[in-house]
Amino acid sequence: MTDLETPEASLASVYAYHDGTKHHFHRFAQSLGYLDWAAQPKPFREFAGASSFPLYPTPGVATRGYAPRPTTFADVCQPDVTAEPLSAAALGDVLRHALGLSAWKRFDRSRWSLRVNPSSGNLHPTEAYVICGSLPGLADYPAVYHYAPDRHALELRCVLDADAWRNAVGGRADVVLVALTSVHWREAWKYGERAFRYCQHDLGHAIAAVSFAAALVAWRSTVQPEWSHEAIAAVTGAGREDDFTDAEPEDPGCLIAITGGEPLACTADVVSQLVRAVSAGRWSGHASQLSEDHVTWSFIDEVARATDDPGRSGLPAQSPAIRSLDPVRNRHVDARALLLQRRSAVAFDGRSTIDRDAFMGMLSLVMPGSGPPWNSLWWTPRVHLALFVHRVQDVPPGMYMLVREPGALDRLRSACRPEFLWEAADDRLPLRLLARHDARSMAARLSCDQGIASDGFFSLGMIADFDASLQTFGPSFYRHLFWETGVVGQTLYLEAEAAGARATGIGCFYDDPVHDVLGLRGHGFQSLYHFTVGRPVDDTRLTTEPGYSWEQPRD
Ligand SMILES: Cc1cc2nc3c(=O)[nH]c(=O)nc-3n(C[C@H](O)[C@H](O)[C@H](O)COP(=O)(O)O)c2cc1C
Repeated sequence: MTDLETPEASLASVYAYHDGTKHHFHRFAQSLGYLDWAAQPKPFREFAGASSFPLYPTPGVATRGYAPRPTTFADVCQPDVTAEPLSAAALGDVLRHALGLSAWKRFDRSRWSLRVNPSSGNLHPTEAYVICGSLPGLADYPAVYHYAPDRHALELRCVLDADAWRNAVGGRADVVLVALTSVHWREAWKYGERAFRYCQHDLGHAIAAVSFAAALVAWRSTVQPEWSHEAIAAVTGAGREDDFTDAEPEDPGCLIAITGGEPLACTADVVSQLVRAVSAGRWSGHASQLSEDHVTWSFIDEVARATDDPGRSGLPAQSPAIRSLDPVRNRHVDARALLLQRRSAVAFDGRSTIDRDAFMGMLSLVMPGSGPPWNSLWWTPRVHLALFVHRVQDVPPGMYMLVREPGALDRLRSACRPEFLWEAADDRLPLRLLARHDARSMAARLSCDQGIASDGFFSLGMIADFDASLQTFGPSFYRHLFWETGVVGQTLYLEAEAAGARATGIGCFYDDPVHDVLGLRGHGFQSLYHFTVGRPVDDTRLTTEPGYSWEQPRD
């Protein structure tokens, strides 16, 4: 065993990476410092030689009786309808609203796409793979596919033995697996060493995007802890080096089981059956190269190795949490339209306010609950929100803490500044007022001097229960902490849209100055992601077209 492979050495690498990629007032995390436009990675990967299956709702693709049910965002948040039977069309509907294109933007001669799931710098490192049984409209055999969002199509990567698939999923006809990987290079091209963090944030956003979209057809998605990175590399083909010659490697992320009925429990036996099945499967396709030139960021390779997930089994079942506040206010809007309209605000008006109920309603959905996206995670919340409230009616401006896991309150309280008030700020939510003050300039300063952190209704830092989580679950859980922040972020993005407002994720913030403001010392708690919500000011120079040509409104 080399030194790096011991859990202690891996943990040391995680701390070294985390501290080494902090932004400081006087020094940003290491990056090139300029953008090498010639090496800009292509946003879409394709597999040359793989058969491509266009998905519903692409025109000409047979619906085979599938008709999307009208679904409101309230239905999605708390689905209580019968699950749609698994079909290629329903799967297409889910993928379109989870990871498809939401728009094309144009400015002068530049044109770029946006997606349902957001991404730091719009660089989209997350790739998705679908593993499912034979479905009319797709291959006649169980297969592994790569999702191509530019075409809304599945590219056939591997045909599996039908018996092997059937045995692995216990003969169930309602199971689809979605595996997510990251191309680190896409983010590293722009952000250098901090990019590994952004890849994990983005993966968390994608987990939530899949969970919300699955709920459109009352399917439930669950991240499967049993899947090791080695197994995910095998089942996605990311570990097949010959299929990636000249192509940037993909780092395994997580495997999500989507079911219409009871959640699937992927035991170690199921995982090894599927890995054996893909090893014996017929593979096709060669990954495309995204850039001709690359810069090696060995810090990223090191932290990826140190956080390699061995998979875990025997975790205690989570008791379904009950939300303390009815989260249906403002949510009687069409869910599909809402998922497609999600955007990041580039600026806020610095004036508008929201009312107290709308604010508390937004916070209520980031509390753990029995609906999506929280029912897709296997761990209890490790991330709390340090809020900077600027413009919320009947909520005094200042700093607040939303304690998402009650067991953490005492530790958080003793870790923070002794002068904080910890006054209960709401009788239904675990929201505590820490200090009354105008936090606008401080919030902007901490978020790399970005006005979006001060010009909205509120902004926040996501404070992870860092040391304790890594001690409990090991170094690979470093990734999961970021995923949880992404899931919180995706929820806030949608909540903001539902309330007629807009949000933006903020990956650029000065790490330790945030900790200083809260009084945090050491690594007990660490701020991992910032977020902001407000009334957007649109950039009128940009024109917008729909995600796919068939969605273009006819004159
Ligand atoms: C992890 C993450 C970090 C981000 N950080 C910032 C940021 O620091 N500043 C900012 O203006 N936007 C930030 N964004 C917003 C992205 O730029 C935006 O998601 C991307 O351009 C795609 O646009 P869309 O969200 O409208 O689809 C971030 C988004 C994510 C997911």
